[in-house]
Amino acid sequence: MRNWHGEGIWYGADYNPEQWPEQTWAEDIDLMRRAGVNLVSVGIFSWALLEPAPGRYVFDWLDRAIDLLHDGGIGVDLATATASPPPWLAHRHPETLPRRADGTVLWPGGRQAYCPSSPVFRGHSLALVEAVARRYARHPAVVLWHVSNELGCHNVHCYCDVSAESFRGWLRERYGDLDSLNAAWGTAFWSQRYHDWAEINPPRTAPTFANPTQQLDFLRFSSDEQRAQLRAERELLNRLVPQPVTTNFMIGTGIKYLDYHSWAADVDVVANDHYLTAADPQPQVNLALAADHTRGVAGGAPWLLMEHSTSAVNWQPRNVAKTPGQMRRNSLAHVARGADGVLFFQWRASRAGAEKFHSALVPHAGPDTKVFREVCRLGADLRALAEVRGSRVDADVAILFDYEAWWGAELDSHPSVDVTYTDRLSALHAALWRAGITADVVHPSADLSRYRLVLAPTLYLVRDADAAALRRFVEGGGTAVVTYFSGIVDEHDHIRLGGYPGAFRDLLGVRVEEFFPLRDGETVHLDDGARADVWTEWLHAEGAEVLAAYTDGPLPGVPALTRHAVGAGAAWYVGTRLDDDATDRLVARLLTETGVRPPVGAPAGVEVVRRRSADRSWLFVVNHTGRPVRLAVSGVELLGGTRCDGELEVPAGEVAVVREQPAPVPATA
Ligand code: GAL
Repeated sequence: MRNWHGEGIWYGADYNPEQWPEQTWAEDIDLMRRAGVNLVSVGIFSWALLEPAPGRYVFDWLDRAIDLLHDGGIGVDLATATASPPPWLAHRHPETLPRRADGTVLWPGGRQAYCPSSPVFRGHSLALVEAVARRYARHPAVVLWHVSNELGCHNVHCYCDVSAESFRGWLRERYGDLDSLNAAWGTAFWSQRYHDWAEINPPRTAPTFANPTQQLDFLRFSSDEQRAQLRAERELLNRLVPQPVTTNFMIGTGIKYLDYHSWAADVDVVANDHYLTAADPQPQVNLALAADHTRGVAGGAPWLLMEHSTSAVNWQPRNVAKTPGQMRRNSLAHVARGADGVLFFQWRASRAGAEKFHSALVPHAGPDTKVFREVCRLGADLRALAEVRGSRVDADVAILFDYEAWWGAELDSHPSVDVTYTDRLSALHAALWRAGITADVVHPSADLSRYRLVLAPTLYLVRDADAAALRRFVEGGGTAVVTYFSGIVDEHDHIRLGGYPGAFRDLLGVRVEEFFPLRDGETVHLDDGARADVWTEWLHAEGAEVLAAYTDGPLPGVPALTRHAVGAGAAWYVGTRLDDDATDRLVARLLTETGVRPPVGAPAGVEVVRRRSADRSWLFVVNHTGRPVRLAVSGVELLGGTRCDGELEVPAGEVAVVREQPAPVPATA
């Protein structure tokens, strides 16, 4: 891994000078300096300007822009510029256009209109990467390379003939022979047996439900195809340039089809884009989940927030602006959770194009604005936090997350459309957030030994090795919690027979003989006072202690919540969809049982996260409430807060960061 760290926290934005007359550039640099910007992503959507005709490259404008940035002391995260091909590519090679499952062609005119499996696209894109890399490899402004942009954001699934051929190649690699494929896909069902590789296609629009394993493999293949572009560009860059390489992931906010856990090793630094959902009344909780997941993908290492927004976006139905102070809380919450860089989309709000109503660091109204003043304040804040760079986030709790389990759990023809993969993940994470506990969101194959509590929400598809690892974690003294519709199938989406939740039945000491999903809006109650909906199941405790049973609904008297002592630890099972109050109570019990505590007691709505280096630790306190709060924190204040009767007072809506003295001993030490 090449080092991507600078002297402090990176701060900046996508910078698109090509959208502006050159007279604006000098003002841009002045304003960037005023704001404390030290890194900008350049050239992301510049292919059509850099290569106006195949093989003819025009770099003079980019030379001037990068030189200007360098003179201003601003680093460059240089794009390979392959994110969106120029119109000439599709015009000359219409076969590079992607197709939907029903055959609809996706035409140029927006962005990312290419088939990810197209060798023609690959060839042209790599030629561009080589030209850009050769030109700027030694430029002193370049500190990082940015492959493409949000790979697979709009074109992750292509069903064209080129993709079909590539899918067949991928399947040959995976299965070797047709018998293995037929067995894995369960093609004895519905007369689906394949006798020739040429008979196999992507799961194109069919009269009814397509084969689930075919669907699952196509999703795996599609994620791998996008990763193949990343790998191809990175390999070339590694040969031609000395700087580190990244690309921006889209972890959180519902992006489902790219298996970032499997991509992490292909970048020198994990970078993520995160946008708030305007309709979400508490977007800071989802932000925390996205950040905790990004850190999990990065293996706990610091990461880069490559994009977020200073205020409103343009692509939601109602694009709500950020209230005063909200951007700062958002940015610093990302830093609290491991980001060593805070970048935005984009520097200057566009005057033309589909994103002209998207906020920026410099709004249409110019620098004399709330947004730009907050941008300058944030720049100063991040400078004050330089010493935090490189430190890690304390977490005693892990939540298991597997993109393949997500894909599998939400395939069609399942017991209930109301069972969605991220539902319990969000609910449990939010309950932890309310309790002041930071969790790492990690892949089931991650090393669990450093955690005290591991949650497995809706882990529908699980590999034998990962189920065994969870068992070892519990035997060794850990506490695990598994929620309904987990452990159901193997990696081929074949049911694990003998009773649900197959892979976890022994660990949990329960056996489910039948699912009893609830009707839309139907609720049930448990004898511990909990309310639940969506899901119930006919469960037998076989070794587990019953903590709560249904009092009504289709299964009165049947256990809903159990705990099984295993080795030195315990495994809990939640067989229904508890409401938020009941989830809070469950989490409180788990925290008591495991001794996991927040870094410091804080009132509701106040987020406290600890980062730690070898010999120091820092507490980030984000006050999301509308009133000042006081916390028992002592140390050196790097940011915000005032001392009041020996306590740290953090004003309404503000953020404080304190270097703790003395640094507390890690809980797991
Ligand atoms: C991202 C993308 C940016 C910009 C931004 C708007 O998905 O990478 O180029 O479109 O969204 O929010």
